[in-house]
Amino acid sequence: MGNRLAGKVVVVTGATKGIGKGIALMCASEGASVVVGGRNERDGLMVVRDIEEAYGTEALFVQGDISREAACKQLIEQTVNRFGRVDGLVNNAGIFPRGTMTDTSEELFDSIFAVNIKGAFFCAMYAIQSMLKTGGGSIVHMGSTNGYKGGKDLAAYSCSKGAMLTLNRHIAAHYARDHIRSNWVTVGWVASEGEIELHQSRGLSPDKLKELAESHIPSGRMQTPEDMAYGTVFCCPTKRVK
Ligand SMILES: NC(=O)c1ccc[n+]([C@@H]2O[C@H](COP(=O)([O-])OP(=O)(O)OC[C@H]3O[C@@H](n4cnc5c(N)ncnc54)[C@H](OP(=O)(O)O)[C@@H]3O)[C@@H](O)[C@H]2O)c1
Repeated sequence: MGNRLAGKVVVVTGATKGIGKGIALMCASEGASVVVGGRNERDGLMVVRDIEEAYGTEALFVQGDISREAACKQLIEQTVNRFGRVDGLVNNAGIFPRGTMTDTSEELFDSIFAVNIKGAFFCAMYAIQSMLKTGGGSIVHMGSTNGYKGGKDLAAYSCSKGAMLTLNRHIAAHYARDHIRSNWVTVGWVASEGEIELHQSRGLSPDKLKELAESHIPSGRMQTPEDMAYGTVFCCPTKRVK
């Protein structure tokens, strides 16, 4: 526990489980008031309870499907209504169903882009509108190696992460003078609930997934949500640089 985010308000999209949950908990452990975004109410309220019990900081669950602009607006509006400001936004919510260049349907393409880039874009838009009024803030995007190299069976997903990388650079370049920073964390291979469920649905048990990942990953082990949270929390503080 530390106090790097004491007095700050951080919104984490997709914080009901996986990497986002790890980030929400670590932000709270650093003293932030945390807004937990996601669709699953039961899981979201459990994260809120975990935060309050473990760290005694305030937390709020805002339910919404960020593939709709209205839900992104509501996420930020409810944050401002409760806490008065948004200091940090972690654009973490994402989906990663498989699909190659030869078998991706229009429906699959649209669903991936709706969450991974449209949702991130509009959450950032409403957060920036609020940050401009309060003197600045910090946005962190949960990226992927696929955003650079384009995994073979992740065609639409990779393109969505490439677009997110551009969104990150756009915000960093155009809002620096307004004291709004934007960073991208290149996420490694993480044993999140979503990743485990996906591979299980394709017949790969958690143990086999771990074995496969260990043979590919330089460090020899799958990453944890906490591994990703350290870098994200490092990017979150919003001190002004004159
Ligand atoms: N795991 C990896 O190996 C890996 C690698 C590279 C990058 N990443 C990136 O890391 C981020 C988190 O991934 P993860 O592995 O932690 O996935 P996960 O375990 O499946 O968690 C995804 C989170 O996103 C939320 N979410 C999904 N669709 C949503 C929607 N339409 N509206 C609002 N929230 C939504 C989910 O909440 P609800 O179900 O409650 O809506 C959940 O909290 C993603 O952006 C992913 O692309 C992951």
